[in-house]
Amino acid sequence: MTASPLPVDPGFVLDPMSVEFDRDPYPILARLREHAPVYWWPQGRGWFLTRHRDVMAVLSDEDTYSPNEDHWEHYEAPPQLADDHPVMRMRDSSILSMEGARHARTRKLAFAALSRRAVRSVEPLMESLIEEILAPLRSRGHCDFVRDVAAVYPVGVISRLLGIPADSERERHFKDLADNVVVAFNPMTDEATKLRAFDLMAGYLEEIGEWMEEKRRSPSDDLMTYLVEAEADGDHFHSDEILSLISALLVAGAETTANSLSFGLLELLRHPDQLERYREDPSCRENAAYEVVRFEMPGRFLRRYAKRDARLGDTEIRKGQALYPSIASAQRDPALIADADRFDILRRPADLSAFGIGRHFCIGAQLARLELQIGLGHVLETLPNLELACGFDEVPFRRNPVIRGPAALPIRFTAAGAADTR
Ligand code: HEM
Repeated sequence: MTASPLPVDPGFVLDPMSVEFDRDPYPILARLREHAPVYWWPQGRGWFLTRHRDVMAVLSDEDTYSPNEDHWEHYEAPPQLADDHPVMRMRDSSILSMEGARHARTRKLAFAALSRRAVRSVEPLMESLIEEILAPLRSRGHCDFVRDVAAVYPVGVISRLLGIPADSERERHFKDLADNVVVAFNPMTDEATKLRAFDLMAGYLEEIGEWMEEKRRSPSDDLMTYLVEAEADGDHFHSDEILSLISALLVAGAETTANSLSFGLLELLRHPDQLERYREDPSCRENAAYEVVRFEMPGRFLRRYAKRDARLGDTEIRKGQALYPSIASAQRDPALIADADRFDILRRPADLSAFGIGRHFCIGAQLARLELQIGLGHVLETLPNLELACGFDEVPFRRNPVIRGPAALPIRFTAAGAADTR
């Protein structure tokens, strides 16, 4: 057998969309970190960054590196979409790509909204929601954790905070919007798929617009009303900005956390000593949420674009070039953390980056960790003898250009009412 080429060899091709990368990207990320930490990734037409130091440097320097794709030398607006198409308007008002003062004021609104609503009422909401989700599964004794739990719980939390009725068509549409945004704005997505996603998104955005109107007419005690009123109180918030923020909360809040839940369960089941500790000592669950997102990052990479010429280690970065900081790799960098490939729910190193860093640091980090803590805690406490119903190597992974995570996680447990023979 010939050894596969190193990142510095001419035969090497990085393929972060490959099935191997879906399943276990860490060996390849480790080789990149060691041999080509600032690697020119031809397919992405940009620099792929794997060292913690470089990832941090780029994410924390917004004067040099912007998240706004308009700064990319290769950026072309989707030719199918006019500038005033709802999807383009949403993109142009996205908190994730805004800069400067506009970004600061949108963030302030988002923070105020999430802390005001979320922190006050979210724990009982999460507890009752996860119980509602598990109730019909108990008597079955088996389920697909991804489909039946992870895909519905985080989107349920954010929908209810926003004031979307449970199990409604609206809730399903928002989940669908989240899925389509992820696909539509990725340069790797093929044209036909993009077009389909744009059409669907336009319909769902119109629906959010109608719903905003409803909240203006009859306000209630939810996050949506708060956002709509913040817009009406002064002249500061434009409808597109509110609409885009709601989409961002749905997208960023649902997809990432869903995959972290699945990864959390998978890794705990794979590490029986950690699982035992997790079950026996609820005080370690908060910490475990940090370790789950450190150990398995649910996203593939972030994106930044150089606004001016710069230097990263020995590498010259030209104005207009793209950079792909890999948080997954940064969090396994031995320079950051000893024995980084070991899953250990008791550790909490400083300077972790799972939720980003700098001005775009995740505004839902606290909410996400709480969801993991309450969701996984409840599942493992109340489904007796829970175990994986397939081999660890048989778990299928999602084929998605942005998100990484299991596509299905068949589990079994002792059904309610059944004799426990184990
Ligand atoms: C395990 C779950 C999560 C992970 C790993 C995660 C990760 C991240 C990361 C890495 C960023 C920075 C992106 C960048 O710098 O380009 C980010 C931003 C963001 N996240 Fe999260 N996130 C999670 C859950 C959530 C939740 C639950 C919400 C909301 C309910 C949320 C809302 C946001 C928003 C709105 C931003 C944009 C902030 C800005 O651009 O100023 N995220 N997240």
